[in-house]
Amino acid sequence: MNDSGAPVRILSLESSCDETAAAVVENGRVIRSNVVFSQIDLHALYGGVVPEIASRAHVEACDRVIDEALRRADMTFGDIDALAVTYGPGLVGALLTGVSCMKGLSYALGKPLIPVNHIEGHICANYLTSPDLEPPFLCLVVSGGHSHLVHVRDYADYTLLGQTWDDAAGEAFDKAARVLGLPYPGGPRLDALAEEGDPQYLKLPEPHTEGRYDYSFSGMKTAFLNAVNKLEMTGQELQKADLAASFRHAVVESLVGKAMLAASETGAGRIALAGGVSANRELRRRMTEECAKAGLPLYMPELSLCGDNGAMIASAAYWRYLRGETAPLTLNAVPGLRLVTAATKG
Ligand code: KG4
Ligand code: ZN
Repeated sequence: MNDSGAPVRILSLESSCDETAAAVVENGRVIRSNVVFSQIDLHALYGGVVPEIASRAHVEACDRVIDEALRRADMTFGDIDALAVTYGPGLVGALLTGVSCMKGLSYALGKPLIPVNHIEGHICANYLTSPDLEPPFLCLVVSGGHSHLVHVRDYADYTLLGQTWDDAAGEAFDKAARVLGLPYPGGPRLDALAEEGDPQYLKLPEPHTEGRYDYSFSGMKTAFLNAVNKLEMTGQELQKADLAASFRHAVVESLVGKAMLAASETGAGRIALAGGVSANRELRRRMTEECAKAGLPLYMPELSLCGDNGAMIASAAYWRYLRGETAPLTLNAVPGLRLVTAATKG
């Protein structure tokens, strides 16, 4: 609530990768509008995100998604209490277009600007889907750029328990999909194909990491690549669904195993999933099973909020707004922004 007892309305912009997205969210929980302009068609031709093309497309789309978010919320700038923008991590050019756009708006409107960490945004997507969810909880954040196990101690207060040493889970899915000849973005397509396959078809090595809650996906990715190459070189027809199911099984079992280990060893009372890969069917099924066995409530963003969107950024901004955290007009994009500094890694 703001001083007059009305809900705090935040207008957000997200442009860290290949989605230009804007949203209006009330009190960090209630979505009034959520507009996502996907650039997938622009990048599909190249088999992945081309940073320069992404930046240019964001410049063209920023104004339009913001106008559309206000229109769908049936509001004007006058109804907005604060602005929010993703300032990292992500592609520097893509982030800069969003940051510049929102700094301009903040100055012109005289409204505060709240800088948001993209990973924090993914975690906060859960507050939008589950009105009853409150910290503390354990969160498995799995996206195209990150695989983190995070202890969410409080709103906007995190301890990093573990992370990937090499590829992120989404990145590994995308690379495996490419090996199978699936078009970009491969993760969701591999997931769909895997539904008809045998997960025991190909055994992949289990990763070993020093940190108890850390991940590593490059070993299983290389083993997968070698197995597919061998099949091709010996002229065998690729059993794509079986291969997809085997790879998905290996990645998901690793994600689930470490998440459940961390939950039991840290005494977490509940678990949440976040990030693009939290849309993965097998991950959602397996986490549901394991959490039921352990008697732990599981929270998952609804499918439309798993991938990049503006509403999650506006939610994350709300908790920072309550703490009075606003950005100066010197705010810059930080492509390598971390969720927590190394000193607070648990
Ligand atoms: O969170 P996100 O939209 O963007 C980043 O912050 O990276 O995550 C995108 C990643 C991509 O690697 C995409 O292939 C993966 O999430 N992804 C999936 C699924 N849906 C999206 N991976 C596996 N199964 C899915 N159903
Ligand atoms: Zn993301």
